[in-house]
Amino acid sequence: MSTNLVFLGPPGAGKGTVAALAAQKLKIPHISTGDIFRANVKNKTELGRQVESIMAKGEYVPDEVTNALVKERFKEPDIAHGYILDGFPRTLAQAKALEAFSVLTAAVNFQINENEVIRRLSGRRICSACGAGYHMENMRPKTEGVCDKCGGSLYLREDDKPEAIKTRLKVYHESAAPLLNYYAEKNLLKNINAESSPEEALQQILDLLG
Ligand code: AP5
Repeated sequence: MSTNLVFLGPPGAGKGTVAALAAQKLKIPHISTGDIFRANVKNKTELGRQVESIMAKGEYVPDEVTNALVKERFKEPDIAHGYILDGFPRTLAQAKALEAFSVLTAAVNFQINENEVIRRLSGRRICSACGAGYHMENMRPKTEGVCDKCGGSLYLREDDKPEAIKTRLKVYHESAAPLLNYYAEKNLLKNINAESSPEEALQQILDLLG
């Protein structure tokens, strides 16, 4: 049977970090809508041009655009044994769109307090070449500003600047409750404590999957 997971939770809760560990452990692909949008921005595609300013402000890309992107990604054969969707769905309309073409195993909700989220986002640095993530306090690179894995230079995401963080948290809080209720009513919602280490968060997910 396939393991079909969605990771929910506020920006900076560690969804991407834990999704990378879980994907490796469960041998299923990690699909991040944020990463796909960022790759399009970097490659200056039509989609990238469409979403660049929306993302920089910390707002959501329209549902029709995001749903079409995910539906297209699901045509790839690598999702046969399951997937981890990181950052999708974020709205009720997205959850309903997903339900039309896939059956979920669980919706994992990363619970974390807002001060920790702000600390994590403002300290995050990303490699401009390979996309690896670091944190200025918790996961420092060996050499300041340089990626351990490929030597690329590290940068602060446009949407990790203070104004955009504020908008992202506001937008998240506006759409989160209906989404969480939707999955709770379907008995799919599984809360984890995301204030733990990434390894402990992974273990909580493995435990809930039995
Ligand atoms: P996206 O890239 O999905 O951003 P996000 O949801 O805001 O999530 P983040 O990537 O900021 O955080 P995360 O929870 O993955 O945390 P991470 O593991 O990196 O989306 C970006 C934008 O794209 C959106 O704002 C929107 O515009 C658009 N978009 C994407 N999907 C969309 C959708 N479905 N609908 C509409 N628009 C969409 O960790 C954060 C930091 O904390 C890192 O530095 C990490 O090293 C550190 N850290 C992680 N875990 C721990 C830990 N356990 N302890 C200590 N530090 C930790």
